[in-house]
Amino acid sequence: MEIILAKTAGYCFGVNRALDAVDKAIEDGQVHLIHTLGPIIHNPQVIEKLEQRGVKTVQGLDEIEKGTIVIRSHGVGENVIKEAEEKSLNLINATCPYVKNIQKRVKKYYDEDYQIVIIGNKDHPEVKGINGWCNNSGIIVDDKNNVPNVAKYDKICVVAQTTITNELFIAITEKMKEQHNNVAIFNTICNATKERQEETRRIAQDVDCMIIIGGYNSSNTQKLVSISKKYCNNTFHIETKKDLDMDKIKKYEKVGISAGASTPQWIIEEVINFMENQENNMENMNSTYEDTFK
Ligand code: F3S
Repeated sequence: MEIILAKTAGYCFGVNRALDAVDKAIEDGQVHLIHTLGPIIHNPQVIEKLEQRGVKTVQGLDEIEKGTIVIRSHGVGENVIKEAEEKSLNLINATCPYVKNIQKRVKKYYDEDYQIVIIGNKDHPEVKGINGWCNNSGIIVDDKNNVPNVAKYDKICVVAQTTITNELFIAITEKMKEQHNNVAIFNTICNATKERQEETRRIAQDVDCMIIIGGYNSSNTQKLVSISKKYCNNTFHIETKKDLDMDKIKKYEKVGISAGASTPQWIIEEVINFMENQENNMENMNSTYEDTFK
């Protein structure tokens, strides 16, 4: 079996940066007081390891009175930052700089009376956070067949969740341009995301089977799975090597692997080692079988 691993698989810059911020806080000796607002990344295995090191995940600031609060790479709304400051919490804002730029842009255009439109998933924390910089007044759209009528607004500003696909962004913005002639459009899809999706597509076209590694609740991993499925019917989404069903994989000669932005390197390596070991075992079994019946 030939295994092709995507060069872009694994942590992106923003996730690395957020995890480094937590590591630094632990090293600074704040361990019993470190909280992250929501899981620091969408990867249960990493969260479990951090919990073992004393880092607590909270869902809201009402759960804490003192200590450190780490804002994850997805970012939060302006009101959350204010609330943390009012509570005199030690705030570590690990919002990814790319997301921060979207927040700044949304605030600027909102202050200039633009109607904000966010292309993305309304339930995703990054989108909720971005919407929190325009007083939660943004129109959120994630389906090209459901583009709202924006003709009634004077001026529109459109931004995107960093992990959506370029196809979706183009489809929705084209429909908006048909309705309105004063639309400020910003393609804020992250480059790391574009490259990862593009590489996943390229590999999926070229292999018999694709394995996408990443949290089942990770939005960017789910996007990779859907892109891969378009080009390779035999696409499997797994979180760790435990989810790998080698009985289904072993028949394929060329297997591609990609992984979401919140998938640590050690999980990717474990999967590859597991596959290689399984293959060696199968080869040994075959040769034992042949030796016995020679
Ligand atoms: Fe930032 Fe892009 Fe990662 S927006 S968190 S570098 S996917």
